Amino acid sequence: MSAYSICLLPGDGIGGEVIAQAESVLRALPIEWRFERGEIGFGAYQRLGSPLPAETLETVLHCAATLFGAVTTPPNLAGYKSPILGLRQTLDLYANIRPCRSFQHPSSRPGIDLVVVRENTEDLYSGVERVEDDGNRAISEMIITRRASERIIQRAFELARQRQMNKVTVVHKANVLRETCGLFRRVALEIAPAYPDIQMEEMLVDTCAMELIRQPEQFQAIVTTNLFGDILSDEASMLVGGLGVAYSGNFGAQTAVFEPVHGSAPKIAGQNKANPLAAILSAAMMLDYLNEGEHASRVRQAVEDCIAQNLVTEEMGGSLNTVEVGQAVISSLRRLL
Ligand code: NAI
Ligand code: MG
Repeated sequence: MSAYSICLLPGDGIGGEVIAQAESVLRALPIEWRFERGEIGFGAYQRLGSPLPAETLETVLHCAATLFGAVTTPPNLAGYKSPILGLRQTLDLYANIRPCRSFQHPSSRPGIDLVVVRENTEDLYSGVERVEDDGNRAISEMIITRRASERIIQRAFELARQRQMNKVTVVHKANVLRETCGLFRRVALEIAPAYPDIQMEEMLVDTCAMELIRQPEQFQAIVTTNLFGDILSDEASMLVGGLGVAYSGNFGAQTAVFEPVHGSAPKIAGQNKANPLAAILSAAMMLDYLNEGEHASRVRQAVEDCIAQNLVTEEMGGSLNTVEVGQAVISSLRRLL
């Protein structure tokens, strides 16, 4: 039986509730897990003085992979930096991959099977900001590098090939942001010929936002810069059921961190109402990364079965609570093992 050390970072709010269900689903598989827990988030900051303690980074690095819940980021606390951005930047988790596929459910449109490949380390999220004119002029630098553009675009083409897709859509705004987006676009045009089996298409980000609503079935892999990817992937998730089922992986050369796309949802925290499916689907993506593809498919199938039977939480139109959804997934999974 395979054995893996996995770092669990529940974080704040509903993070702990959804990670507990993902952990139960993983424990239902015939795999030997050694789970190690790390502190992260606003709670960690209040208890330990840091939202991302050094020990947490060490645990992430010595485990085979990490499953992260969500964190609360207080908007007005001077000097406080979101630890998930810190984790992505410190560990150079340069590729944020967010698949969106239709479910058999009224909240999902049919015929969608796309993946957003988002650059995860630079752009307007580099953290280079300043204010001038007594706080009346604020400046954030948008930084795009050849190196980061090359590796994310290559990653998108490799992923497309692996998933037998035949098109990659490169999304930018190079008509206005001629230098930054222009560089991203030029790098894409240089890389594309190395993948003659895959068509490269270009699209301006505003057009892409519109096309995702108009005809989302046209997309296969979308590759884009950090901010555009953040926004487009949230938009895409709404086509197939919303934040409660949107999952993702952050990949670097050393390790990978898997996480639901949603935040800590303070309004419903502690009420056993949160949808754990995004966290469970993130765990399935982690299984793929661990080369446990058959188990990953079984977990996804178990989730799809529950959704098709409306065994879901209230925000998706069901009547189950967090723990009941986790149990429903495990019952479906047992039938597939
Ligand atoms: P949010 O994703 O926490 O919530 C948005 C809306 O979706 C809320 O109505 C919430 O109740 C609902 N929701 C989210 N996840 C759900 C789930 N699993 N089941 C059922 N309903 C769910 O985003 P919001 O409200 O903008 O931010 C709350 C906090 O989370 C903030 O402190 C923010 O900084 C943080 N945040 C953290 C993220 C992360 O840890 N990766 C990502 C986004 C926000
Ligand atoms: Mg976001």
